[in-house]
Amino acid sequence: MEALVPFYLWLKTLHIVAVISWMAGLLYLPRLFAYHADAKGETAETFKAMERRLLRFIMNPAMIATYVFGGVLLAVPGVVDWSAGWIYVKLVAIAVLTVAHHLFAAWRKTFAADANVRSARYYKMMNEVPTVLMIVIVAMVVAKPF
Ligand code: HEM
Repeated sequence: MEALVPFYLWLKTLHIVAVISWMAGLLYLPRLFAYHADAKGETAETFKAMERRLLRFIMNPAMIATYVFGGVLLAVPGVVDWSAGWIYVKLVAIAVLTVAHHLFAAWRKTFAADANVRSARYYKMMNEVPTVLMIVIVAMVVAKPF
């Protein structure tokens, strides 16, 4: 859409701010799960509140904002060369990141119901999933290697 061209850099600014906020949550929530897995009593209740608020007030709105501004950026003429490969790798990595987000949200509910059976080690490993995806996405969108 031609009318979006003057707003390109502002849309990208908002997109990057949303991405940073979403990633902050995606990197922090599995860390909270790792500590929560070994916590009991009052400490476990505190983790439940932290996890619920992180998802509700940061991660969910930031994910939606990332999609909205990223989606509008896709519609700015000349921004994406659809004959290049990087955009497809980025879109697949975003899909996996979105699956991770929903998986983490499901695990939060398990913790909220005091029904977690997974180890702290498991959540520490899961912490690497958004890390790797973030590196792939930033490499695709900035270096555009193919
Ligand atoms: C629905 C999700 C997303 C869509 C549709 C989307 C789409 C886009 C588009 C079209 C651009 C402009 C590209 C350019 O100017 O060359 C962009 C820029 C950018 N995106 Fe995304 N994106 C999404 C999610 C993400 C995520 C999850 C990350 C990081 C983890 C990310 C990181 C970036 C960065 C760093 C830029 C700036 C690149 C530059 O200025 O060279 N995006 N995005």
